[in-house]
Amino acid sequence: MSPRPEALRGATITGTGMYVPERVLSNRDLESMVDTSDQWIVERTGIRERRIAAPDQASSDLATAAAERALAMARLRAEDVDHIVLATTTPDRILPSCACTVQHKLGASRAAAYDVFAACSGFVFGLGIARGLIASGTADTVLVIGVEVLSRIVDYTDRNTCVLFGDGAGAAVLRPCAPGDGLLAVEMHSDGGLGEVLEVPAGISLNPASERTVQAREHFIRMQGKKLFPFAVRSMEDSLRASLDRAGLGVTDLDLFIPHQANQRILDAVRERLGISPEKIVANIERYGNTSSASIPITLDEAVRGGRLAPGDVVGFAAFGGGATWGASVMRWTMPSPVDVRRDGVALAARGGVA
Ligand SMILES: CC(C)(COP(=O)(O)OP(=O)(O)OC[C@H]1O[C@@H](n2cnc3c(N)ncnc32)[C@H](O)[C@@H]1OP(=O)(O)O)[C@@H](O)C(=O)NCCC(=O)NCCS
Repeated sequence: MSPRPEALRGATITGTGMYVPERVLSNRDLESMVDTSDQWIVERTGIRERRIAAPDQASSDLATAAAERALAMARLRAEDVDHIVLATTTPDRILPSCACTVQHKLGASRAAAYDVFAACSGFVFGLGIARGLIASGTADTVLVIGVEVLSRIVDYTDRNTCVLFGDGAGAAVLRPCAPGDGLLAVEMHSDGGLGEVLEVPAGISLNPASERTVQAREHFIRMQGKKLFPFAVRSMEDSLRASLDRAGLGVTDLDLFIPHQANQRILDAVRERLGISPEKIVANIERYGNTSSASIPITLDEAVRGGRLAPGDVVGFAAFGGGATWGASVMRWTMPSPVDVRRDGVALAARGGVA
């Protein structure tokens, strides 16, 4: 039996967008909150500052702003979207889903919308879901969003975690393309046995919110950073290699590598183990810290608007996070660089030039 034509479709990114809140929380600011120093944070993590959402901003606000920019770049209307796959650890509320709230705010009236809880690997998992939806013919236009307002679940009395995390959102529009272009492979993995390495102990069905859980600060992130470090390096390296292998490519074929921004030392270790040259890896952790599921799409959008990707380039993504979850993806880029695109006769500026 010959396959349905839809089964032969590839899926590719046709628009990207990001949004970060205005307020900057610097290492110097943290020095007055916990026993830490700018020098310790920079040396151990590479982070200098991170963004913090305003009190009246929820994840859906950040996500909607990023999604609008991605749709504008893809020259699509919100009504064109078939599915919204929203990756987050910090939805506005546990019910309704953050994706449904974003659907309403965007006016994406035709879209099925749902959240994916895969922590920092959420955007890569979202790419895997979008690829399946498009390849199977279930959807033509999928909006994948990664968004976090981690500042609401970070304990600003815990120096082990509060220096690491920040708020932000990134989004990508995926559309069908010729097979062999766009997403060539997506690897997705989980190990629930590692759940306690990174957790928020209370709040839902296991330990419902109570006076005791609030007093014990159990609604905040708890992390065993030392255990996570080697797992992060190994899992990102292994899944990127597996993804390249599945695509019939090798590390030397990569033109750009966009890893989850968790710690500059983790990025350096992964890059060195893979043997990738420094100019091929994109890092912005210095400015945003770890924004979990938002970190890859934010970094991707900056790379796209900065003119770092051209049609035919091979780009790799890799992530790891709580759960534990990890994964990677390899794409053959198909979108012209926005810096090369002309609208109304005016060359668009590299950053922020595309609405
Ligand atoms: C958290 C992390 C930055 C800590 O770096 P590290 O080099 O492993 O540091 P250690 O845990 O060995 O701590 C060294 C010392 O610094 C102290 N320290 C921890 N945080 C500190 C801070 N913000 N400022 C100053 N000192 C700090 C520790 O208490 C420890 O002191 P001790 O030796 O007296 O016990 C690092 O382990 C890491 O990035 N892990 C991965 C975390 C991650 O990616 N999480 C997100 C997953 S998506």
